[in-house]
Amino acid sequence: MMECIVYESNTGFTKQYAEMLSEAVGLPALPMVQAVSKIPRGTEIFFLGWVCGGKITGLPVAEKRFIVEAVAAVGIVYPHPDVTAELLKLNKLSCPLFYLQGGVEPKKLGYFKRKILSMIAQNLERQENKTAAVWDLADTLRIGGSYVSQANLEPVISWVKGNEVKE
Ligand SMILES: Cc1cc2nc3c(=O)[nH]c(=O)nc-3n(C[C@H](O)[C@H](O)[C@H](O)COP(=O)(O)O)c2cc1C
Repeated sequence: MMECIVYESNTGFTKQYAEMLSEAVGLPALPMVQAVSKIPRGTEIFFLGWVCGGKITGLPVAEKRFIVEAVAAVGIVYPHPDVTAELLKLNKLSCPLFYLQGGVEPKKLGYFKRKILSMIAQNLERQENKTAAVWDLADTLRIGGSYVSQANLEPVISWVKGNEVKE
């Protein structure tokens, strides 16, 4: 039985999703730093982590200590089956993976992290035939913004609830 939601968030967007999920399914949500001291090894968890250079932050630690039943990766690129496939491969995941679009808050990021995001924005701006969505993402990377919504989280909520019913 899944007992807890554990998350790793840098600027708060993953935390927002974790707390929304907690509220919707009635399981406690703990940041990784608290989880390692408050919940026993081997506890079954749902893990959420922010994506940094294709890697799901905190996942290796979570996998070492807990039984990770499913994962939600919070990144900034648009949700697409290729994104999920790439994340599954890079993070060597065999459990179910969900992808959620988070946000950017430049003032919470240091110089180098901001620089990385503005380089991604620059690449997007160089694309030919840019859609409104691409422009919007490039702006978000530079000036900040959030794509966090309850609607994005619905498939995750359904999965967790469905899982509870099965067990
Ligand atoms: C240094 C850095 C690298 C990132 N790399 C990726 C990436 O590879 N793919 C992606 O979709 N988002 C990437 N992002 C965007 C974050 O995953 C996104 O802003 C997320 O919502 C941050 O969550 P948090 O607020 O919980 O820390 C990156 C952000 C930073 C600062």
